Amino acid sequence: MPKKILLVDDEPRILSLLHSVLRVEGVESVSAKDGPTAVALLRQQKFDLLITDIRMSPMDGMELFRVARAESPDLPVILLTAYGSVETAIEAMKKGAFDYLTKPFKVDELILTVRRALEYSEIKAERDELRETLVTQCKFDVVVAESQPMKRVCEQVRRVAPTDATVLLTGESGTGKEVLARAIHNNSRRRDKPWIAVNCAALPEALLESEMFGYVKGSFTGANTDRKGLFEAADGGTLFLDEISSMPISLQGKLLRVLQEREMRPVGGTATIAVNVRVLAASNVNLEEKVKEGSFRQDLYYRLAVIAIDIAPLRDRTEDVLPLVQFFLRKETPAGTACPRISREAADAMMRCPWPGNVRELENAIKHAMAFVQSDEITLETLPTRVAAYALPETSEATDATGAAPDAIEQYRNVSLRAFLRQKEKEYLEQVIARAHGDKEKAAKTLQISLATLYRKMPTEEK
Ligand SMILES: Nc1ncnc2c1ncn2[C@@H]1O[C@H](COP(=O)(O)OP(=O)(O)OP(=O)(O)O)[C@@H](O)[C@H]1O
Ligand SMILES: [Mg+2]
Repeated sequence: MPKKILLVDDEPRILSLLHSVLRVEGVESVSAKDGPTAVALLRQQKFDLLITDIRMSPMDGMELFRVARAESPDLPVILLTAYGSVETAIEAMKKGAFDYLTKPFKVDELILTVRRALEYSEIKAERDELRETLVTQCKFDVVVAESQPMKRVCEQVRRVAPTDATVLLTGESGTGKEVLARAIHNNSRRRDKPWIAVNCAALPEALLESEMFGYVKGSFTGANTDRKGLFEAADGGTLFLDEISSMPISLQGKLLRVLQEREMRPVGGTATIAVNVRVLAASNVNLEEKVKEGSFRQDLYYRLAVIAIDIAPLRDRTEDVLPLVQFFLRKETPAGTACPRISREAADAMMRCPWPGNVRELENAIKHAMAFVQSDEITLETLPTRVAAYALPETSEATDATGAAPDAIEQYRNVSLRAFLRQKEKEYLEQVIARAHGDKEKAAKTLQISLATLYRKMPTEEK
């Protein structure tokens, strides 16, 4: 949309000068010869910028500035001052005016200030738009979904949430399976009842069984009293079984029974207990393959996958990248302080990055940037090296005569060979793990190293 500026000055000569300079710049402007006319125009039309003289009558520029702020608080205002009124202009800036120009001003200076002000109003508008999308999504948890695949996922979630159906969420590590599972719970009739999440990979078989199903006194050494399991604790609510592929085959039968019969028996118990729990499950490995391999029961798979929701990796939905960046920036910015901007180079690098750790990795990258940011801008330097490495090569200086991208010597200036190799190794590991859909054992096989070595070499946040 073309930008529109409101110009206010009681000197027709200045108005016509401003008007013609701005027209050359491709900006539309509307002139007003005094404050009251300007106020009337502000109420009728939408402007992107107000430029006003200070000394005018009957209403001076400061008064007009106050009215404009009250009417449209986001409208940037540039004040024109003669020598005598610079202090007034500075006063106005303290109250939120965008900038001021001292008459007689240079055309370049005017253009530059106008451009900055318009850019500012654009960023503000974008931010508001984003806030609006977030607010609409808030009703349905904070799930950033700008891309088509993610919008479809949200639509599926919205539809299944009110039912009691078992849902299987699949997707690479960090794609948002747990966030969406919670959204299902929070949008279901069970929302005021417990939400319990169990990571099936975190506990050894015996412990997982007693955790989930509970036990009766004396059923094993140390079972001094009866203990309720998570199925009972989640009564009326939702039980989220994360990393379901790691559930030992012996427990899979027991889970299947719960899903089919809606009842279970605690460890060591004889009586069955009725279960009223909705089960949601998640997996970052391909369960069908596990079924083929024989490590996952086919009947349980079908039972869980009554409704299957697959979340695409972030690299296949780049439209979500910048909205997520904005979302995490806002989340990380202390209340009452302004959100940092993102430099074009940093935004490009983030758009190009394949994000093997998906949204979680992006969230960590923003936390990293916020820890290193010095000014009000997230720059390439503040991003983790592996993300910044995806920056577009700088034109002219950074490309060599053949137009090729900068070589390793340029990119890793002053970096030791050891550090360089470590970085490359890390990137390769991440790619292999991502390609194995997060299955570390498979990744270790591809890499022809032991699982223990893989873990040792992995960056801590991804273990
Ligand atoms: N669409 C989204 N909008 C907002 N935040 C998101 C979104 N997707 C993921 N996140 C955030 O990214 C992080 C990782 O998400 P989550 O824990 O749900 O991933 P996951 O798929 O369960 O990963 P894993 O398989 O490793 O357990 C969380 O902090 C979550 O809040
Ligand atoms: Mg998870």
